[in-house]
Amino acid sequence: MRVFVTGASGHIGSAVVAELVAAKHHVIGLARSDASADKIKAAGAEPLRGDLDDIAGLVAAARGAEGVIHLGYKHDLAFGGTPDGFVKAAEHDTHVVKMIGEALAGTNKPFVNTSGTAQLALFGGITRTGTEEDVLPGGPRVDGENAVIALAQQGVRSSVIRLAPTVHSSLDHHGFVPMFIAAARKNGFSAYLGEGINVWPAVHTLDAARLYRLALESAPAGTRLHGVADEGVAFRAIADAIGKGLGVPTRSITAAEAPQYIGAMAHFAQVNNPTSSERTRALLGWQPEHPGLLADLAERHYFA
Ligand SMILES: NC(=O)c1ccc[n+]([C@@H]2O[C@H](COP(=O)([O-])OP(=O)(O)OC[C@H]3O[C@@H](n4cnc5c(N)ncnc54)[C@H](OP(=O)(O)O)[C@@H]3O)[C@@H](O)[C@H]2O)c1
Repeated sequence: MRVFVTGASGHIGSAVVAELVAAKHHVIGLARSDASADKIKAAGAEPLRGDLDDIAGLVAAARGAEGVIHLGYKHDLAFGGTPDGFVKAAEHDTHVVKMIGEALAGTNKPFVNTSGTAQLALFGGITRTGTEEDVLPGGPRVDGENAVIALAQQGVRSSVIRLAPTVHSSLDHHGFVPMFIAAARKNGFSAYLGEGINVWPAVHTLDAARLYRLALESAPAGTRLHGVADEGVAFRAIADAIGKGLGVPTRSITAAEAPQYIGAMAHFAQVNNPTSSERTRALLGWQPEHPGLLADLAERHYFA
């Protein structure tokens, strides 16, 4: 299949490109710089120069493809430290997916979008085990998710992969784990909030990449999928593994101290987000086979 991939040069996108190329798909990857274009080319895909702000370019690329996977995201805006950056990045993303969706309407082409499981806890207040059947009415990233699911009514084989907040592997250089490691290095201790009994789901990058390919190839229209291998790892255990990896102590901090020690991650570190992927596994025959988060941290590549 001729597949247009946004975010093809990123952490997860580069693994998705490799997975698609290995399965003999022809990949056209969005590249906003020469460096990203070179990376995409080296992975065996065709770079397409463009930007997430160039909606006409995204629409033309989607029209010319047989399927679209959307992984590009303005993380620089979302986590750049401006008070409204997180919301503005999500609003831009919703606009992008709606425009791509319009371009694909009536074609029955697959369109795989990206969201997060953390939204269930952050904006839905769900603290029990979340499932693919949990649907939120709206919120940052949720609006984009819902817009893409609604495309199923307009002749698009749309699906959304809600990723665990920790997509981990040696390919991960700026996700939450590297951010917490950098904070622990700076502070001289690895932090968790309160008792650290809140849990985070997690998935290995290579398992997530396979899920994107399976969704592209066969997810039914209007499907929410969970990119989750570990249902929930206690935050205290993550902090202990980081402390061990760095050779620094682990320490509890209060919510009031969190901004000082872990900055923009303060809000996320409190999230309790146990999440199931049972339905996703049954639907697509997806079985995670790479190491779980704690085993991956024990492999020490994050601390090299
Ligand atoms: N990593 C995780 O743990 C995690 C967890 C949950 C959800 N997600 C979501 O999964 C998706 C992929 O994440 P990731 O970890 O692969 O992110 P990433 O490594 O930061 O990659 C982001 C991609 O978007 C591209 N991009 C950013 N701004 C752009 C612009 N203005 N125009 C064109 N391209 C632009 C980047 O291009 P350059 O390479 O040129 O910078 C890169 O290819 C995102 O939606 C993310 O929020 C990730």
